Amino acid sequence: MKVLVTGGAGFIGSNFIYYMLKKHPEYELVCLDALTYAGNLSTLKDALQNPKFKFVKGDITDRTLVFDLFKQENFDVVVNFAAESHVDRSIENPEVFLKTNILGTQVLMDASLKYNVKRYHQISTDEVYGDLPLDKPELMFTETTPIHTSSPYSASKASADLLCLAYYRTFGLPVTISRCSNNYGPYHFPEKLIPLMIINALAEKSLPVYGKGENVRDWLYVEDHCKAIDVIIHKGKVGEVYNVGGHNEKKNIEIVKIIIDRLGKSEDLITYVTDRKGHDLRYAIDPTKITNELGWYPETKFEDGIEKTIKWYLENKPWWQEIVSGEYKNYYEKMYSDR
Ligand code: NAD
Ligand code: TYD
Repeated sequence: MKVLVTGGAGFIGSNFIYYMLKKHPEYELVCLDALTYAGNLSTLKDALQNPKFKFVKGDITDRTLVFDLFKQENFDVVVNFAAESHVDRSIENPEVFLKTNILGTQVLMDASLKYNVKRYHQISTDEVYGDLPLDKPELMFTETTPIHTSSPYSASKASADLLCLAYYRTFGLPVTISRCSNNYGPYHFPEKLIPLMIINALAEKSLPVYGKGENVRDWLYVEDHCKAIDVIIHKGKVGEVYNVGGHNEKKNIEIVKIIIDRLGKSEDLITYVTDRKGHDLRYAIDPTKITNELGWYPETKFEDGIEKTIKWYLENKPWWQEIVSGEYKNYYEKMYSDR
């Protein structure tokens, strides 16, 4: 079996590559990644030692490059992680989100149709459902919750989902879609909440909490997400959407305090800053469908996952120090200096 993993130099895609190389050593994996600011080839350095793995630098919106690659490689399965993924950046500059997340998905599906891919799997997000109120904890997102997006990021992901379902219905492309909650774990880019707080806390820098820190996210350890995708591409039903979530809701401020506590730092580092525009209040996934139909459930307890994650950031300083000392400095300055 030959699998194309797009966006595999990013956070979840790289974790998926390592998971698959170990779980299915007989599979061939090809990673197509444009190496944007979020992609990092050093993340894949161990995978690159594996003869079953190949890296190709390229943009999923580049139709010629994508079609040539499909013709040459004859993929059985495509898993599309490639995306612009950060809500705050989508508020600053939506255009590239529409290009990569929507048009890139279309190019990959056109190539999948032409070269008879047996499964096209789209990595989506719970953010396509919009948000839930904070005062109704019983409400959760199911696969039939209406699409109702808030940010240019989530709108672009929802558009891609709708296109996938249209390609299934109209052209018979064998698609599956997974909509996952917030992931955390190794190789998470420093702009996102958990790595940002770990890295800032280690440097005794202020910890910028948006608004009052009351917003809730449902955190899933990245390896559990990888397991869910593996199960869906093997056992999932085409044309179906699967919600993937951790049953692990936490307020942002709770997350920040856990990190401070584990690192032995002071809560004085917490700084409440101007809220994100259109900030989604709460995400909560109901993963009953994937549990009942495919036997997947979140295995990693948050206490264990966050412990492993903090340990990873402590043991892999060169990985993130290289990022935060580069272009990221300008990003941080722009987003946080007078917030
Ligand atoms: P990431 O930003 O860490 O990585 C994205 C990767 O895609 C990078 O390697 C980047 O170089 C690559 N890429 C971007 N534009 C590209 C293009 N035009 N062509 C080829 N490659 C391109 O993102 P992530 O957090 O790993 O997210 C991966 C996927 O999972 C995304 O589709 C995202 O919407 C989805 N998702 C993420 C989360 C989360 O918590 N991080 C939760 C649910 C769903
Ligand atoms: P993020 O990691 O950007 O993921 P998403 O917006 O996709 O859920 O943010 C998680 C939560 O943390 C979100 O409610 C915004 C909040 N947040 C902060 O309070 N401070 C920060 O510096 C960042 C990056 C996020």
